[in-house]
Amino acid sequence: MSEPTIEDYYHEERTFQPSAEFVAAANAGDRSLYDEANTDLAAFWARQAREFVTWFRDFDTPLEWNLPDAKWFVGGTLNVSYNCLDRHVDAGLGERVAFHWEGEPGDTRTITYAELLDSVARFANGLKSLGVRRGDRVAIYMPMIPELPMAMLACARLGAAHSVIFGGFSPDSIRDRVNDAEAVCVITADAGYRRGAPSALKENVDEALADCPSVTSVVVVNRCDTEVTMAEGRDHWYHDLVAAASADCPPEHMDSEDLLYLLYTSGTTAKPKGIMHTTGGYLTQVAFTHHYTFDLKADRDVYWCAADCGWVTGHSYIVYGPLANAATSVMYEGTPDTPRAEFRAGARGEWPKDRFWDIIERYGVTQLYTAPTAIRTFMKWGADEPARHDLSTLRVLGTVGEPINPEAWMWYHAHIGGGTCPIVDTWWQTETGGHMIAPLPGVVSTKPGSATFALPGIGVEVVDDHGVPVKHGGGYLTLTQPWPAMLRGIWGDPDRYRATYWSEYEGRYFAGDGAKVDEDGYLWLLGRVDDVMNVSGHRISTTEVESALVDHPAVAEAAVVGATDETTGQAIVGYVILRGGHDASDALGEEIRQHVAKKLGPIARPKQVVLVPDLPKTRSGKIMRRLLRDVAEGRTLGDTTTLADPNVFDEIRRRAAGASGED
Ligand code: WTA
Repeated sequence: MSEPTIEDYYHEERTFQPSAEFVAAANAGDRSLYDEANTDLAAFWARQAREFVTWFRDFDTPLEWNLPDAKWFVGGTLNVSYNCLDRHVDAGLGERVAFHWEGEPGDTRTITYAELLDSVARFANGLKSLGVRRGDRVAIYMPMIPELPMAMLACARLGAAHSVIFGGFSPDSIRDRVNDAEAVCVITADAGYRRGAPSALKENVDEALADCPSVTSVVVVNRCDTEVTMAEGRDHWYHDLVAAASADCPPEHMDSEDLLYLLYTSGTTAKPKGIMHTTGGYLTQVAFTHHYTFDLKADRDVYWCAADCGWVTGHSYIVYGPLANAATSVMYEGTPDTPRAEFRAGARGEWPKDRFWDIIERYGVTQLYTAPTAIRTFMKWGADEPARHDLSTLRVLGTVGEPINPEAWMWYHAHIGGGTCPIVDTWWQTETGGHMIAPLPGVVSTKPGSATFALPGIGVEVVDDHGVPVKHGGGYLTLTQPWPAMLRGIWGDPDRYRATYWSEYEGRYFAGDGAKVDEDGYLWLLGRVDDVMNVSGHRISTTEVESALVDHPAVAEAAVVGATDETTGQAIVGYVILRGGHDASDALGEEIRQHVAKKLGPIARPKQVVLVPDLPKTRSGKIMRRLLRDVAEGRTLGDTTTLADPNVFDEIRRRAAGASGED
């Protein structure tokens, strides 16, 4: 059979149907969930809340809605860690594997639900012995090891909110997040494995904590056996803490609206937002969507979400959704291009780039959930890599984090999904907590590149500049009604919450994404419409990078744009004007580039820094980023009539061609 071509797929009218066999066995094989939700929204979610969650006390009212404040399942009490652990063990599932964990060097651990409960209870008691209490905040800065979900669940058990900080963030980022949340404790590790070598974490925490007065204790997991400094009285080894702790830790009874966690994400200003998620509604929606979007059969599936717990995808679809559903998951510490130990002796380049496919084959993975940027990287490495492995256990493939281009969708479908697995393209955000737009794989026919329709119980409309719904065509994505896992606010900043999300279009949540609706009503996501970049599925604000650039002593002014990039979706390009007395050189450009990595973390390092004599500005002094994007993407310039000095571009172009950066 010849390879399918783009033309075979990339037609709005071209759709993929799930097989009759898939539909017959699907968790949702007809439209009844949509019908039920359309009939009575609150009753629909109330039913899901009682089906997916075990309540200590049943709730009285499903929803109280006073825009922009929602309360879901009012009066109910529950504990999220009890729902993820105890109830499964009580139901006789203690021996079921919760995590098949694989470290980057190839070490493995198999953790059952009974073992996970034991570890979490001890961890919770250990935290208690350090003074962590219900209502506190705990920061977590860890590699992808089992102690990371354990730490999250231990906090949930005590009723302390966690704030997970992605391991790629810098000491400055840790400091800002810890201080904003006034965290009392930080949980970390000496280091984590990253591309074959330990990457230090504790050192970054030490640097950050020089300026964090609220923190009284630090817990350190020994992952890599690297040398660390332990501050007497403040720092504690995890293994000592749990060895001394009892495995009996009754879960706190939390109110449905109590804070479960904070997760900081980039907005359009330099200050990250602490997104607030609570317990009852959040758990209901992540368990519901995990069950239906991935068509989970908990007693036989081996589900793998290849994200990092430092992002919301890891929170909802590695930890809380799968564990609430008693799923068996794979968890992997490293990067897709780190080879197995047996290959590492060879020279780089000779290594097979098949770590993912090897993992899928060995564990018999049934669902794979990853990002388009990873899929495009796999495409570059070639179809031979997956072809050497038996991937026939896969049933459903998922994508998240950015729009998926039809070519990548097709490649994923053909080479990973064997031409038969439904692909669920899931649109959602840190703020939404769980999936919002995605196909139910047994119900909705898919189109390559479209996230299809709102899930049952979710209201989505695309509107024009005036907030009027668009029947067909392009506009802005809005959400028309509250949903259980919605953010409850921005930590410490209720005004910013209302202004950012609920003020742009009256009565609607503004997502910050552009979208179009096709003739069949399918939704196509078109990327961010604000100053937020999406680099490899990670949200980074242009303002954040600009302030890191101007923080360098040689920089007078900076403008940052996200330029379209074949692999990472967008790439960060910084245009910089130097202060007097500094001469432009490659070395200085590189130094400034590295300065951003130091300030914000390596994920925010610009791909290119261009040192320019001037920036394109309007006569009122506003930087015209649109034109800089044209330059970065090698296009002819758009409308330049509002430019104060139209000649500024000749020099910018010349400098861009020779600027320092990657590759
Ligand atoms: C983008 C990640 C198109 C979007 C879960 C959104 C997507 C932002 C998709 C949220 C998708 C996420 N198709 N775009 N399937 N999923 N996005 O908060 O721009 O890290 O606003 O949450 O990612 O990113 P966040």
